[in-house]
Amino acid sequence: MNARPDSASAPILLSDYRAPAWQVEQIELDFDLGIDATQVRSCLRLRRDSTQATPLCLDGEGLELLTIMLDGQLLSPDDYRYADNVLEIDHAHDGSVLETRVRLNPAANTALEGLYLSGPRESGFLLTQCEAQGFRHITFFPDQPDVLASYTVTLRADRARFPVLLAGGNPDGAGDLDGGRHWARFVDPHPKPSYLFALVAGRLEKIGREYVTADGRPVQLVIWAEADAIERCHYAMDALERSMRWDEQAYGRNYDLDVFHVVATHDFNMGAMENKGLNIFNAKYLLADPDSTTDDEYRAVEAVVAHEYFHNWSGNRVTCRDWFQLSLKEGLTVFREQQFSADMNSPALKRIEDVALLRRAQFPEDAGPLAHPVRPAEYREINNFYTATVYEKGSELVRMLAGRLGQAGFRRGMDRYFEHNDGHAATLEDFLGALGEANDIDLMPYLAWYGQAGTPRMKARGHYDAAQHSYTLTLTQHTLPTPGQAHKRALPIPVKLALFATDGRMLPLHLDGHSNALGDEHVIVLEQAEQSFVFRNIDAAPIPSLLRGFSAPVILDGDYAPTELALLLRHDIDGFNRWEAAQQLASRAYDALRDGGDTTALTAWCDALAELFDDELFADDALLADLLSPPGEIELAEREQVVDPARVHALRQELQQRLGARIGAGPLLRRYEALAAQTNRQLDASSQAQRRLKRRVLELLALIDAPAAHAVAAGQYQDAPSMTDRLAALAVLVRGNAPQATLALAHFRERYAGDPLALDKWFSVQTQLPGELTLARVQLLAGDPAFTLKNPNRVNALFGAWARSNPAGFHRADGAGYRWLVQQLRPLDALNPQVAARLATVLNGWKRLEPVRREAARSAISSLTTGPELSRNLTEIVQNILG
Ligand code: ARG
Ligand code: ZN
Repeated sequence: MNARPDSASAPILLSDYRAPAWQVEQIELDFDLGIDATQVRSCLRLRRDSTQATPLCLDGEGLELLTIMLDGQLLSPDDYRYADNVLEIDHAHDGSVLETRVRLNPAANTALEGLYLSGPRESGFLLTQCEAQGFRHITFFPDQPDVLASYTVTLRADRARFPVLLAGGNPDGAGDLDGGRHWARFVDPHPKPSYLFALVAGRLEKIGREYVTADGRPVQLVIWAEADAIERCHYAMDALERSMRWDEQAYGRNYDLDVFHVVATHDFNMGAMENKGLNIFNAKYLLADPDSTTDDEYRAVEAVVAHEYFHNWSGNRVTCRDWFQLSLKEGLTVFREQQFSADMNSPALKRIEDVALLRRAQFPEDAGPLAHPVRPAEYREINNFYTATVYEKGSELVRMLAGRLGQAGFRRGMDRYFEHNDGHAATLEDFLGALGEANDIDLMPYLAWYGQAGTPRMKARGHYDAAQHSYTLTLTQHTLPTPGQAHKRALPIPVKLALFATDGRMLPLHLDGHSNALGDEHVIVLEQAEQSFVFRNIDAAPIPSLLRGFSAPVILDGDYAPTELALLLRHDIDGFNRWEAAQQLASRAYDALRDGGDTTALTAWCDALAELFDDELFADDALLADLLSPPGEIELAEREQVVDPARVHALRQELQQRLGARIGAGPLLRRYEALAAQTNRQLDASSQAQRRLKRRVLELLALIDAPAAHAVAAGQYQDAPSMTDRLAALAVLVRGNAPQATLALAHFRERYAGDPLALDKWFSVQTQLPGELTLARVQLLAGDPAFTLKNPNRVNALFGAWARSNPAGFHRADGAGYRWLVQQLRPLDALNPQVAARLATVLNGWKRLEPVRREAARSAISSLTTGPELSRNLTEIVQNILG
């Protein structure tokens, strides 16, 4: 499976893009399916671009070539060359028909790319994953997204072993064959790139629902899963229906086939895949029931179902010209999903969750050796570029554009984008062009955001002139160098702002250069390295609320006094901005603890939150839970020049202890009991909020009165009516290394022995043991009979959760954590390069560690550069991380 030594091979460059010399108008595929041997016959009708003299070259990897026929003639080895994963064929011309036959071994495919087996060989099913370049593992094809073809797919297989046969497109007949076999055919009327091809074959159960689109098309919605999971698909079905309605209403987009199939698998490299008419999901993002799914996971299921469905327009009908444009579909689709989730739930909570994710996952990526632009300029392995930058930062860029155009303008622009590019493979220029043209605005300056890596740092300094009654806000921006980009330019940064008086009122804005008053909220755009904005008619020094709603993905240095942040925390009417003020204040409190001395910020933070906690009029339990949570260890580490993860952890614990002590054990316990009295397993917003705050209160209590909190947690574990409460209690016991943890863990293991997704949580929660205890536990769990390197969810549940969510437990001073993780990477890479490469990115931040850990990490990572060849995926990550 592994790629050839690629350390020396040239990267692929955006600047080298050329339109394909050969197109495929039509492809007919015939599969004779079997677990160990599947035969694929492909018939391509070719079109040639007469202006290019390039010979016909098709991609193909790991294929056992049986025969090739060109225009009815069997080719001899003299007529073609198959080397380095490229099949070059002589004598093809415009209109030629090329037929190839190949054989595959799905059961041997552990990389989970191309055609593979999910589950045990006796009972598992066959499925495909083609994005980005999996189709070349199935047949010979120009495997790039700008080759759009019409697909006719016929599947043949043993009926008893593979009763269900599915492919993308509309069903076009099915029937029996001799010898207990059967067939089914699917025709997709919409030309599509090869990465959207999919098939599924095996023993699956279904649930179905009829849906009628806004433009009157009846659609069969069907979700497929293995028998033990099918009853857990109803929530996803509801979410799918909500997504379809929402896309009709919010974007005027209707579904365009007679069927929409969704399939769940436990063996999947990522979240889910938007294959045309046949979405395939990691079971983690499809199955849900109160007994085994947490509230956060419910929301993730809803979000991913929506995300994949929305791809039908942003990705499938309008696809990407090349993989450098990946964010054209991913950033846009994440943005659409975020809008949808905000509409379905709480907009403020959704924004908090998204910004927290951006800061935890994308900011560190953008600040380290793997930093790359949202539209990278080069790559060696495209699978390494399905990153937080392409997805999450990409979504932030779309959000900026949408904010610039306003709701109606953005809709007008999106309508034009979909209409002008329907059926085409588009670029980010096409996107910005359509949005701009529909609104007579030049958006091309925003293209700079797509080409420049690194998070801009924006400084804001205010000056109040009492004599002039004016307030001058001076903004400057600066972006640090990133690998390969020493010099950065100024970007257009939209800053949504309001000005507050010291009594908490918002002031009307009179901005110089605008004849009209602007209301109490306005967006200014910082376009240069430095700019000043003057506000008039201001009677006293105001407190600016900047970047409201997080209007641009930048790091703000706002020069606030702690009392000013406390004022925003109390008075801002926007939930997101209150949270943001609390985050800023908590960060300052953290600095105060670290540096000693002035404790104003710490006191201000504790006082403001204690006041809110006691405020009976403050009814938003979920927001309160978020307000009571300081930034995580990863975010706090970003504030440090040199990172000692153990110290960051200790300081953050102390910070929370101070808060808990300020509120007091008595009030915490009383609040816990009041919330616990309402315990239920409903999914409505207020029940979810109750669980969220209850968890936060229990966590704070655990930091100031561990025995009391552990007794409460043990009780909550036993009586929990839902997974949310059960797992929250278990986590408190495990993190506190409580004596009750052992029994609870044993109980959980037994209770969920047959449920892989719940068992993943059993592995994950134990990686959260504090400090020096963690590694030994992780090692023990890696030897558990239920652990396997072959299942990506299990690998992420153990290694991923440990290295990503417990920095203090992973970054041991003696380097043993690094060495052990790196040892796991080799066997993992041999099985599944995509999963290994992704896991290796946890070492991204090594250069900023304190010297002892830094050297230990460097030496562990370097050990991968000698010895047996690694995959192209892992090689690229290791090389880039070492820099
Ligand atoms: N397009 C899929 C999604 O975002 C993800 C595919 C990821 N593929 C990969 N090779 N990493 O919905
Ligand atoms: Zn996507």
